[in-house]
Parts: sequence; C-alpha cells; structure tokens
Amino acid sequence: MKIIVKNSKLEAAKYAARLLAEELKAKPDAVFGLATGRTMEPLYAELCAIAESENLDFSRARSFNLDEYAGLPGSDVNSYRAYMQMHLFDHVNFKETNLPDGVAPDAEAEAKRYDDAIKAAGLDVQLLGIGNNGHIGFNEPETAFDSRTRHVKLTEATIEQNQGLFPKPEDMPRYAFTMGIGTIMEAKKIILVATGSAKTGILAEAVLKPASEHVPASVLQNHADVVIVADKEAAAAIPAEYITEA
Ligand code: F6R
Repeated sequence: MKIIVKNSKLEAAKYAARLLAEELKAKPDAVFGLATGRTMEPLYAELCAIAESENLDFSRARSFNLDEYAGLPGSDVNSYRAYMQMHLFDHVNFKETNLPDGVAPDAEAEAKRYDDAIKAAGLDVQLLGIGNNGHIGFNEPETAFDSRTRHVKLTEATIEQNQGLFPKPEDMPRYAFTMGIGTIMEAKKIILVATGSAKTGILAEAVLKPASEHVPASVLQNHADVVIVADKEAAAAIPAEYITEA
C-alpha cells in the first residue's frame, strides 16, 4: 500500500486525477471504477481540465460507478447518475458509462446484472472515497469482505453524512445499490482518496489496525496495488514511517 500525502485537498485531487489520466494514456480502453461524493468533485474538475489541455481521448474507455441510490431514477438531480453527468460524463467522451439502475423493478436481479457486467469487463482501476464510518461504496461496517454487488440498507452514520446534500434531508433514500467489497477487490489497481479532518481517525484505523470487517476500508491492506492519496488533515494520525511520499 502506497500512501501519498499532499498539502491540500486540491493538491490531493490533482495527484489522483493525474493517476487516472496516466492510466488512460497507458491503456486507452481502460475500464474505470468511479466514485461520487464531495471528495471527488475537485478530482473530476481536475481530470476534465487535464482532458481538455492534453486532449485525452476516452472514446474507447468504459466506466462503472460504485453505487447508486435505490428509488431515484438517473434523471433525478440527487442521483449518482446526475452527479456523474454533471462532474465528468458531460465533459469527456467515454465510450460507455454504467451505474446501477436505482429504479429497477427487481433489485436482486439488477444487482446481479451489474455485478456480472463488472466481472465481464474487468476493472483496471477503482477509485474510492472513504465514509466517516470506514465504508467503501455503500459497504457499511460488518459487511463481509467477499460480498458482491447488492441492494443495501444505509446506516444512520451514512444518512447523517450525506443527507445535507438533499434539499430536504428526509428525502435521502434509505437504500442503495453498491458494488460489493469482493467486487471492488477484483480491480487491478485501487486509488482511495481521503481529504479533510472528518476522515483523520477512520483513515488511520483503516491503515494501521489489522484488517477487520468492522472497518470496510481496511480490506485494502489485502490488495496488491493500492494507492491512498490524502491531504495533510486526513493523514494527520498516520505516522511518518507509513507514508510513501509527502
Ligand atoms: C460514493 C461512495 C462513498 C463515498 C464516501 C465519502 O460513490 O461510494 O463511499 O466515497 O462516503 O464521501 P465524501 O467524499 O462525500 O466524503
């Protein structure tokens, strides 16, 4: 596991965006696993800027997002589909972009369809944020490390973390679709980005304590190619000897 620490949120976003841009240059038909959330906004802004200034061509690349709220159609402004269109997909020319269908009539069948499609495509690189409770995707604490894509109930901690993003907090869905931890771990490379002081304690737990289902992100200790990109605030509780580059 490499841990890269940058001075600011923006510097961390720029570093991670550069990793994605280089991945595309090395493999124009790469399959990207993508994430949403506040951490990713400056990262996607930077990736769009690099795409424009360096003429990045995504026309052979595909993407699969980690998760989507259940009950929201992609046309809903609060859906992760809408987030992705706004922050990335409307600005770069991906061949194909995929998210779970939040309003699929049969949730179990939709989860299986999505998991099968990811498996068939093979993720080259998976981008992750980390929840205040250590979740990755919407894999909440105590999720099995070999879990697959499925329909899940969100925890109170996650509802609290995200409901401020809804005009009426009570409108935040209580269920979602998420790639499983086992699904995520099959990506060839994983990039986790953590910024801000709300992530300091949980990032240290994920990295320093033995991997445990109590902290889903700690599973990354078991993956052969992980880069954690953090700002100084998020990395504040990680001792210097664990840091690859500061
Ligand atoms: C988003 C996702 C979540 C977020 C995490 C951090 O697709 O899967 O796991 O990455 O909740 O969210 P922010 O960046 O808003 O702190």
